[in-house]
Amino acid sequence: MESHVSDHVRIFDTTLRDGEQAPGCTMTLEEKLEIARQLRRLGVDVIEAGFPAASPGDWAAVHQIAQEIGTPDGPIIAALARAHRDDIDKAWTAIQPAAKKRIHTFINASDIQIEFQLRSTREAVLVKAREMVRHARSLCEDVEFSPMDATRADPQFMFQLLAAAIEEGATTLNIPDTVGYTTPEEYAQLIHDIRAQVPGATDCIISVHCHDDLGMAVANSLAGVRAGARQIECTINGIGERAGNASLEEVVMALHTRAAFFGVASNVQTQEIARSSRLLSTTIGLPVPPNKAVVGANAFAHESGIHQDGVLKNRLTYEIMNAETVGLDGNALVLGKHSGRHALRAKLIALGHEFESEEEFQHLFERFKELCDRKKHVDDRDIEALITREHQHTPEIYTLEHVQVTSGTGVTPVATVTLRMVGGEPLTDSAHGTGPVDAIYKAINRIVQRPNELTEFAINAITEGLDAVAEVTVRIRDTRAEADYGLSPAIFKQKRDQVYNGYGVNTDTLVAAAEAYMTALNKMLAARQQRIKAEEAAYAAGYDPNAPSYAVDTFGGK
Ligand code: KIV
Ligand code: ZN
Repeated sequence: MESHVSDHVRIFDTTLRDGEQAPGCTMTLEEKLEIARQLRRLGVDVIEAGFPAASPGDWAAVHQIAQEIGTPDGPIIAALARAHRDDIDKAWTAIQPAAKKRIHTFINASDIQIEFQLRSTREAVLVKAREMVRHARSLCEDVEFSPMDATRADPQFMFQLLAAAIEEGATTLNIPDTVGYTTPEEYAQLIHDIRAQVPGATDCIISVHCHDDLGMAVANSLAGVRAGARQIECTINGIGERAGNASLEEVVMALHTRAAFFGVASNVQTQEIARSSRLLSTTIGLPVPPNKAVVGANAFAHESGIHQDGVLKNRLTYEIMNAETVGLDGNALVLGKHSGRHALRAKLIALGHEFESEEEFQHLFERFKELCDRKKHVDDRDIEALITREHQHTPEIYTLEHVQVTSGTGVTPVATVTLRMVGGEPLTDSAHGTGPVDAIYKAINRIVQRPNELTEFAINAITEGLDAVAEVTVRIRDTRAEADYGLSPAIFKQKRDQVYNGYGVNTDTLVAAAEAYMTALNKMLAARQQRIKAEEAAYAAGYDPNAPSYAVDTFGGK
């Protein structure tokens, strides 16, 4: 089913920009770096690392990614900028440390957006686009231009914008289906017409950028490739604004599995797909639905008798991809009770994990030993979960020292919890709840005393078997009253909508639930400190405080 192909489609990952922009997907600087490291392992061609003009913290994240990940053999590091001089300047300074840099600038192209969002005219937009591509190109050799809402724009006007961008030196032309409106046939026609009618377009890379509002983002992206596009903008697990962006794993596996049909290939290391998906989902606390194509838990499961019978006789009867190709072969038995430091270290290297310090490794080793005491066979999936837990970079404001719960039929669940603040005395409290998790969370809240709302709670067994490790992901929201923040109403709303996620792993589901909640609470309690830290990092790295910056929540004009 696989054939040799030569033509290359660039994979432009925007998980850290369009993905991170989606509600509840915000990541800290360390989390973004962790994802960027995995994107490099995955082999994407371009990482859109963020929108530096949004805030000093965003600028710092792009700058650090450029510094660490943007090595000469690494991916291109792109930064997004509206067609404003200050945005472009901030994007340029943020990507400076990268060996391969790209400025991605965009402007609204549809009449509805030009009139109501920009409060401008086509003529002014055309002038602005030309000037700003010229400015970007005076700084950077690699400039991408996007006419936003291209699929609802007047095609002739959009072509004029593209032609102006080409004249000013744009090297990639991205055609965003910003609101997820187009269909595969229409989108393919549009890409075809651009290549046929816009002077110079065939000398540029045409890029597709599709949102999934009507569930067609992947189909539209692939149709664009069939029509000549050679870059796909996508995100891990398809996260992104509203219904999300085209999912990276789906477009990549479609190109891989149907290589003969598409006749093009990407550079993505497909065996890194499952790990990338898991890392992102645990980082942002957004579980992957079991029936999600390519990376869902059931994507390779055969339940019906007829299918099982066929697969046992010959895998190809019902499988078009195999689990190993996407990196889902982690159930090979690996380590156990008698495995020592050496074995764990070798396993981590084989899994491609680097540890920053010996202390971090030692901590992981202790967790590994605890797990081996409870679970006979520890496989790659368990180890990945421990690593994810270890790599959460959670500020330890409170540590969980002890949790005990009584529950069952005919009794009211009651939990006793002991927490400790760094360098402080142990703090113990108890509470009743409607269930054991409720009781634990109430006991924790009696100690921490910070109003919050649990918005999501998910449990998953990492492996098969009764001794399986449970992973719990939670999301919470800060519900302090407006007066307690001391902020303006607009900033208060932004803060109140901020979601904090937590991840816990343990063979005891209730301990995993307590750990996950503590992680989320610690993140919430440390949010202000984290923001200040990111700002300090930005200033230390040369962020220019005098250049104006803009709010992230709108792409509107200045
Ligand atoms: O969807 C969109 O239009 C975008 C642009 C900024 C490229 O994300
Ligand atoms: Zn988008």
